[in-house]
Amino acid sequence: MSLPLPAIPLLRAESHSFSYSDEEIEAEAVRLQEAIQQHQRWPLETCRGIAPLTLEINRLKKEKDVFLIAHTYQTPDIIYGVADEVADSYTLSKAARDASQQTILFSSVRFMAETAKIVSPHKTVIHPSPEAGCSLSDGITAQDVRDLRAQYPGVPVACYINTTAAVKAECDVSVTSSNYLRICERLPGDKLIFVPDRFMGAHLQKALQGKKEVIVFDGECEVHAVFTGEKVRQWRQRIGDNLSILAHPECSADVLEEADFVGSSEKLIHEAIRLGKEGQPDVMLITECGTAERIMAEAEEELNLYGACVMCRHMKVTQLEDILQALQNPRDDQIIEIDSEVIIRAQHNLDEMFRLAE
Ligand code: 13P
Ligand code: SF4
Repeated sequence: MSLPLPAIPLLRAESHSFSYSDEEIEAEAVRLQEAIQQHQRWPLETCRGIAPLTLEINRLKKEKDVFLIAHTYQTPDIIYGVADEVADSYTLSKAARDASQQTILFSSVRFMAETAKIVSPHKTVIHPSPEAGCSLSDGITAQDVRDLRAQYPGVPVACYINTTAAVKAECDVSVTSSNYLRICERLPGDKLIFVPDRFMGAHLQKALQGKKEVIVFDGECEVHAVFTGEKVRQWRQRIGDNLSILAHPECSADVLEEADFVGSSEKLIHEAIRLGKEGQPDVMLITECGTAERIMAEAEEELNLYGACVMCRHMKVTQLEDILQALQNPRDDQIIEIDSEVIIRAQHNLDEMFRLAE
């Protein structure tokens, strides 16, 4: 596979004094390298450097009975080194809700950890990187939603799950990249307010044309907004009609127009793996780099991944060192706290999502 991936700054475990034997470190390094499946970018030497960290995190997880959830856009050392569950935002919100452990450590951006707290308020949710935001969730406030409601009284409001707890509390239902079409179609009435993603909103406007008017906010994902239809067309011309174009629904309408398949991070991975199995190895992924890294690790058939991915700077803030520190001794700002009234209202929103998505 040949996708050019940007470099990831790596921390090494040399400064720590864990008591793991050379044999334990070597076995862990080999396990990491085999799981990550990028032997050039993750040579054995690099894996040896991080092995003491993953060993210690896994030991602490057991000792403290912590369930560690990681989004697909986290780095491969987190995904294959220490995560108990990796998936898209919908599956992860269910995993948080259903986890038997009383403590969840959520390695991802803030809104996902907040969502875990809303669906399981009695659990302790640790978020190692409080500074890890998201251009969508940071681009809209609860007041923005109240203003829209005042402007369009009685119209249902659906929000993308990439929103804060306070915004969710003002909306009727959350949707994710794996269910936004299904849920919005099932909402009552012939009008709908959709916040905050203007690209996903435009996709909804097109899909629901003639059935519902969709009023859209003007937020965007700074990662997926980078891709253009023009670039995708150039790649199609260069590679030919065998190229399968797989795009995330946070991309612009011009990009989605060119796509053969549109879906959540998890659905894009399944589709690429399916194409490989069916002997269609030429794939272009239009999304964040973590999706390609999981495909490289998990596809059994050889795939040719074309184009260039874009990294989410918020998702890549978290490193193994942060996870270790948060597990050992979390700071107050690493423990998710949400006002109880906001939780109750946001919980109603997410219950509606689970009801309408299934
Ligand atoms: P997924 O639910 O598809 O994983 O998307 C989350 C996200 O933030 C994409 O940018
Ligand atoms: Fe937010 Fe975009 Fe990063 Fe996803 S990729 S967390 S939507 S900024």
